[in-house]
Amino acid sequence: MTWNGDEYQARFDRLAASGDDVHGEAELVLSLAPGTVLDAGCGTGRVAIELARREVAVTGVDIDESMLATARRLAPEITWHRRDLAGLALGRSFDVVVMAGNVPLFTPPGTEADLVAGVAGHVRPGGHLIAGFSLGRGYTLDEYDGHCRAAGLTLEARYATWARDPWAGGDYAVSVHRRP
Ligand SMILES: C[S@@+](CC[C@H](N)C(=O)[O-])C[C@H]1O[C@@H](n2cnc3c(N)ncnc32)[C@H](O)[C@@H]1O
Repeated sequence: MTWNGDEYQARFDRLAASGDDVHGEAELVLSLAPGTVLDAGCGTGRVAIELARREVAVTGVDIDESMLATARRLAPEITWHRRDLAGLALGRSFDVVVMAGNVPLFTPPGTEADLVAGVAGHVRPGGHLIAGFSLGRGYTLDEYDGHCRAAGLTLEARYATWARDPWAGGDYAVSVHRRP
């Protein structure tokens, strides 16, 4: 799938202009007080840019050139990498790796395990992987937990929303895994 970065970003700009809170993902990441964050599947960088504004050292990775072009235009000072998350090897680790916006649902079918292994490999010992994605769209929580477990991560918390509403089943989940 290819994206139009400017159109994608414009949707969030319209929501923000109408008063919606569009920084729930960043707030949950910030609750863990990270110094370094990898925004994995960063798209136009809307989460990374908010984190950078809040003094976090962020790096963004995405495969889509149009998304990254928008990110680079909006925040040229941030490091953006055009890479596949499946098999990612940046050669460093982060306090938090975040996947916001259904990232595992947009990786080519069959690459989900490699995607999770790729991002989990960038979580430092004691660090966290946070991911939010819709359910009932071909990738289950059991599969995701299994892929995290295979990558050495354990489930620490699960929420129904980025605002940390309690998880009681439903069609969207935000999962927080930790590397022991
Ligand atoms: C719906 S967008 C979310 C963008 C951003 N995280 C946000 O919340 O606004 C999903 C993004 O995941 C990226 N993506 C999906 N699979 C990927 C992969 N295997 N490697 C790199 N990026 C991937 C897509 O290119 C796309 O930019």
